[in-house]
Amino acid sequence: MGSGDRRLDLVVFGATSFVGQILCRHLVKRHGTDGPLRWAIAGRSVDKLDAVARSSGADVERIVADAADEVALADLAATTRVVVSTVGPYALHGSTLVAAVAAAGTDYCDLTGEPQWMRRMIDAHQAEAQASGARVVHACGFDSIPSDLGVWFTQQRALEAFGAPCEQISMRVHRMKGGASGGTIASMVNLVEEAAADPALRTLLADPYALNPADLRTGPPQPDTTRPTRDPDTGEWSAPFVMAAVNTRVVQRSHALLGRRWGPGFRYDEAMSTGTGPLGAAKASGLVAGLGAGMGMVAFGPTRDLARRVLPKPGEGPSPDAQLAGSFDLRFSGVTAAGDRIHTKVTGDRDPGYGATARMLGEAAVALLDIDHDEVGGGFWTPSTAFGDRLLERLEAHAGMSFDVLG
Ligand SMILES: NC(=O)c1ccc[n+]([C@@H]2O[C@H](COP(=O)([O-])OP(=O)(O)OC[C@H]3O[C@@H](n4cnc5c(N)ncnc54)[C@H](OP(=O)(O)O)[C@@H]3O)[C@@H](O)[C@H]2O)c1
Repeated sequence: MGSGDRRLDLVVFGATSFVGQILCRHLVKRHGTDGPLRWAIAGRSVDKLDAVARSSGADVERIVADAADEVALADLAATTRVVVSTVGPYALHGSTLVAAVAAAGTDYCDLTGEPQWMRRMIDAHQAEAQASGARVVHACGFDSIPSDLGVWFTQQRALEAFGAPCEQISMRVHRMKGGASGGTIASMVNLVEEAAADPALRTLLADPYALNPADLRTGPPQPDTTRPTRDPDTGEWSAPFVMAAVNTRVVQRSHALLGRRWGPGFRYDEAMSTGTGPLGAAKASGLVAGLGAGMGMVAFGPTRDLARRVLPKPGEGPSPDAQLAGSFDLRFSGVTAAGDRIHTKVTGDRDPGYGATARMLGEAAVALLDIDHDEVGGGFWTPSTAFGDRLLERLEAHAGMSFDVLG
């Protein structure tokens, strides 16, 4: 069941995407093009791949494959130990590749933040991936690595300090500076379109346990910030965080895969922190109004078409200067059943969705090569359950991220 005898270690599928190009530059910097890492770039156009090879320095083998071409993707999957994909929206373009890696026993990671598609892939391919040995890890970008590893880190430190895990953890986005790419906007628009047409999907998206294995899809009600909310202890205001609907589901899947070792009542929530006092309240209200207007615009056909025209298109995204100026700072507050409290933070330099995401994805993809199948077998994992501290250390050393205890 091993894939150790493959010709290549890693293939970047979607090397031409906005994130894929940044990922290629990161891999060139970290591993070169003729070092021990045997890697290739893949996409649907050889001309575009050649252009990326020139601009990023990734002068490695080019593999031409369309996301819908079952034969080409089966060949690609059989050639390499790991595939890393940025070809999205994944719900539109990702399924054939996941089927191919699950059949071939090839490890895989991606950047999807589309819970409905992750659930479809888990339902369709978990058994086959377990049998073939393919380890599939979705959500290896800003959604959901900082959240998932942040909770993992907070629980390890709580266990060391108190001998018990936190029964509740809240994450507040303290700072997040960055832009959005056309690919991300296309994924969000597709999700809203799918949900508008399908009531069952709306039910699934509202379920905090939607990504859990079938026998673990129940649990306590989970906190959810849907309007401006003031914390009575700190006076801090918060507003809904748009990525919470993905991240909280990934964290709950991690907990389920870990055998619910943080207790059957474990609760986790995320929100944007907007500060204290009248200004904090006004910012929270502004964020709620902006989010509502944005969602309304995308949900309604005519305004959705307008949004598509004015927002960044696939292939477009924040400028190099904006990526460098970006950063994020996430704060986690945990409390144990005995009332012991812990505060941690996860920070990163660069634009969270692009400069930071591309490095997270690259480090995750290469980390997969070092993980023994006896330790992590085939199946659908989450970042913390597949990698744990191994990825955390790589992110601190090579991706500008830091995990710290505040007290
Ligand atoms: N998790 C996170 O935090 C995070 C952050 C950023 C982005 N994302 C997600 O990552 C994905 C990539 O984002 P992006 O902005 O980099 O996207 P993008 O620039 O729009 O790129 C899309 C990629 O998909 C390729 N593609 C589209 N249709 C294809 C087909 N039929 N066959 C082969 N390739 C095809 C495109 O190839 P061509 O160049 O040939 O058109 C391009 O490489 C999106 O799904 C986005 O939502 C997630």
